[in-house]
Amino acid sequence: MQLKGKTAVVTGSGRGLGKAIALKLAQMGANIVLNDIVSSDAVDATAEEFKAAGFNVAVTKGDVRNTEDVKEMVKTAVDKFGSLDILVNNAGITKDKPMALMSEEDWDAVLDINLKGAFICTKAAAKVMIKQRSGKIVNIASVAGRYGNPGQANYSASKAGLIGLTKTTAKEFAPRGITCNAVAPGLIQSKMTDVLPEDVKKNYLNNIPLGRFGTPEDVANVVAFLSSDDSNYVTGQVIDIDGGLVM
Ligand SMILES: NC(=O)c1ccc[n+]([C@@H]2O[C@H](COP(=O)([O-])OP(=O)(O)OC[C@H]3O[C@@H](n4cnc5c(N)ncnc54)[C@H](O)[C@@H]3O)[C@@H](O)[C@H]2O)c1
Repeated sequence: MQLKGKTAVVTGSGRGLGKAIALKLAQMGANIVLNDIVSSDAVDATAEEFKAAGFNVAVTKGDVRNTEDVKEMVKTAVDKFGSLDILVNNAGITKDKPMALMSEEDWDAVLDINLKGAFICTKAAAKVMIKQRSGKIVNIASVAGRYGNPGQANYSASKAGLIGLTKTTAKEFAPRGITCNAVAPGLIQSKMTDVLPEDVKKNYLNNIPLGRFGTPEDVANVVAFLSSDDSNYVTGQVIDIDGGLVM
């Protein structure tokens, strides 16, 4: 119960990695504010699961691109639980295409959610954390943002941008007792990767030294470390979670 009394906001936590991260933080004792898009039924079901398990949970449906929605998300944490100690910028999408065929709309959509959304959430959460003089921000980047990936010009650029945002956030807010780190997952079993063609998955598997895809729990465990006091002297870092895919 290392996070007892702490409050965590996890964006895009109706399903997938976000849900697994929220669950891990809840198991460590944190109060959880779930967030997902308005049309997400999954986030309601996740909230019910968390309540049934006896966790302290609130839900705010809203878009990370929308400043008012994000303000409401932060307000919910403070009003309901009295603080905002951990922000996990997890909400993200892909719209993959070879660059020659990629539309500007698809470029903008991915950059807006994956990068601008994280900026808006960080800015809003930092206001509270600065007053508290403490906080942990964890950004969910990707190996694509570190090393590039064909067919993912928009996604790679958004995640590389997120790594830049991570380092600047770490430097700007370190004097206020706030840390900011990123994780860069490789191929993790989820709805986002289920849609990849079998030959692409096979090719990845051949190149993963640990010989398997990651699980959402593999990611959640590292995020939990970066959200806890165990990582108090770690900031501005990017941790690959990829079974050794790139090293
Ligand atoms: N799955 C992987 O292999 C993998 C690898 C590296 C990085 N990631 C990153 O992990 C994060 C989660 O990915 P996932 O695989 O769980 O995907 P997912 O599609 O299963 O979940 C993403 C969640 O974010 C929500 N979301 C989308 N747009 C939103 C918005 N504007 N505002 C609020 N919520 C929004 C979705 O509704 C969904 O519930 C993403 O940032 C993704 O880029 C995933």
